[in-house]
Amino acid sequence: MNADTGSTVTASVNQGRPAKLSARGIAKRYGMVDALLPIDLDVAPGEFLTVLGPSGSGKTTLLQLIAGLIEPSAGALFIDGRDETHTPAHKRGVGVVFQSYALFPHMTVRENVCFPLQMRHIPRAELQRRVAATLEMVGLGALQDRFPGELSGGQQQRVALARCFVYQPALILMDEPLGALDRKLRETMQIEIKRLHRDTGATIIFVTHDQDEALALSDRICLMNHGRIEQLGEPQDIYERPKTLFAADFIGISNVMRGRVGPGGMLETADGALPLPAGAPCPAAGQTAALVIRPEHIELLPPDGTALRGRISESVYAGSEFRLLVTLDSGTTLVARRSPGHAELRIGDEVALGWAADRARLLPA
Ligand SMILES: Nc1ncnc2c1ncn2[C@@H]1O[C@H](COP(=O)(O)OP(=O)(O)OP(=O)(O)O)[C@@H](O)[C@H]1O
Ligand SMILES: [Mg+2]
Repeated sequence: MNADTGSTVTASVNQGRPAKLSARGIAKRYGMVDALLPIDLDVAPGEFLTVLGPSGSGKTTLLQLIAGLIEPSAGALFIDGRDETHTPAHKRGVGVVFQSYALFPHMTVRENVCFPLQMRHIPRAELQRRVAATLEMVGLGALQDRFPGELSGGQQQRVALARCFVYQPALILMDEPLGALDRKLRETMQIEIKRLHRDTGATIIFVTHDQDEALALSDRICLMNHGRIEQLGEPQDIYERPKTLFAADFIGISNVMRGRVGPGGMLETADGALPLPAGAPCPAAGQTAALVIRPEHIELLPPDGTALRGRISESVYAGSEFRLLVTLDSGTTLVARRSPGHAELRIGDEVALGWAADRARLLPA
């Protein structure tokens, strides 16, 4: 079998029925290194789950365990309820697409895409029908007689996707498949992958360290940190309700105000007392905590007697908005957004800052 090529040879071809995955206490240890601490994970049939996290957080290890490319140190793995923990990779019916396209250089596009079906002894008529449909689906119909060396990076990546989707695996694993592409092409391919997912209904587990990619593609995001699941949830849920400072910081831009909970339900910070969001469980007075406020929730107002004042220290034009850095008296810098058309603010201008108290998240510091 050839895992890099996504051409894992399965005994039977799944008939396009997406698989359900359950991991129970699955873990991987290399000598003294815990690449993955015991985790539980359930992925629903047809779900698009993104595994997101910094370098070394265990993303590839998790994928290799699901693919059967490495043996777990502990735990069990179930595909559609069957215990597949020790099933060899080529019998799992799992498709794999990696960052390096690993196409066969001496085969044409069409031959590359035929290969996984030939390995599975799919009858000729069926093979031709599926290959043609898949090449059409990824927009490579016109390029099918070229060799990989005659294609752009994005086109090669499409061949790799076609070669995986063509045999309709029940579960598709992708490890940073767009990592080598430029931003524009990445965004085009993201839309492509979303469409492939919708058209095929496959269960997909997609690894990336790009938070925008994760937000754009996923039904749910599994955020990893140091071999653990930091938070698992829908993109909007993780963005709006991060459970930890790590999650708040890794996904989107966060302004963090650290301090100590005061007696009157306020957070005492170096920049004064800030109101805590109503309804949030309030830590006992004296405990350290942090308020997290997204840039889009910060309002910039004309300076007045308000507690929080600062000066515009930088203004970055980002097309649809200005990103303004505001430096407070304590030296803390916050990021705010402002759409063009608002009264212009210049570097050095003094402003008051405000936000609706319930837009802030109170997290343990
Ligand atoms: N074969 C191995 N032997 C020893 N340690 C390993 C091995 N493979 C991975 N590790 C370690 O396990 C941890 C997790 O690695 P993993 O490749 O899963 O990270 P990752 O999240 O995919 O990172 P990246 O974003 O850089 O690809 C790292 O600390 C890594 O050094
Ligand atoms: Mg990796």
